[in-house]
Amino acid sequence: MDAAFWHQRWSENRIGFHQDAPTPLLLKHWPVLGVPRGARVFVPLAGKSLDMAWLAAQGHRVLGVELSQLAVGQFFAEHGLQPETETTRYGTHYRAGDIELVCGDAFALDADILRDCMAVFDRAALIALPPDLRRRYAGELYSRLPAGCRGLLVTLEYPQHEKDGPPFSVGGDEVQALYGRDWRVERLERRPIPRKHPGYVEGVSKLDTAVYALQRN
Ligand SMILES: C[S@@+](CC[C@H](N)C(=O)[O-])C[C@H]1O[C@@H](n2cnc3c(N)ncnc32)[C@H](O)[C@@H]1O
Repeated sequence: MDAAFWHQRWSENRIGFHQDAPTPLLLKHWPVLGVPRGARVFVPLAGKSLDMAWLAAQGHRVLGVELSQLAVGQFFAEHGLQPETETTRYGTHYRAGDIELVCGDAFALDADILRDCMAVFDRAALIALPPDLRRRYAGELYSRLPAGCRGLLVTLEYPQHEKDGPPFSVGGDEVQALYGRDWRVERLERRPIPRKHPGYVEGVSKLDTAVYALQRN
């Protein structure tokens, strides 16, 4: 899953992961985190997710990072926003209102830019990555978030031998192994996704989704 893979997915518009509404588990569980209005929320591997607009509507400042310029352009165009742009060592920043999207590699973000992110939301980011990158994502990128940072992580679980990812199956033991040293991890919910659901992963015999609350020690 290198950059070329994702650029090709966007250029061919093969974005079955994109949802035309905010993630229901975000709407349900975000309030329990108690993230104050005005807090900056990091959205890694953001795509053109409507979750960013929802978070901004809750009064948060959003910092997304996304490799694909097509995704970033579509996000702002589809919200009727004309972003200002600036190029830094992280990539090209697009800013409109309370939403800033960096078009660049998430792994190149350092503690400077993530310093005031008091929250994080991951849907289809960790599970988009193969095992070696998942370890870097949790062990390197998340280690640059500040103490006290809290967030939600949404995963999928299915028999991995039935299909190659992405999306990859990431179970509770792996979540604990990836985050448990530096983050307090609590599974809030795990539920089956019915076959008829548009988010069902074709080719797998069963599919569950889980959501975890994370808090950085
Ligand atoms: C499965 S999609 C999920 C997008 C979004 N979170 C959502 O829920 O719709 C994963 C996204 O991560 C982006 N991506 C993959 N690797 C990345 C990286 N290293 N840095 C930034 N974005 C990346 C891809 O271009 C793709 O848009």
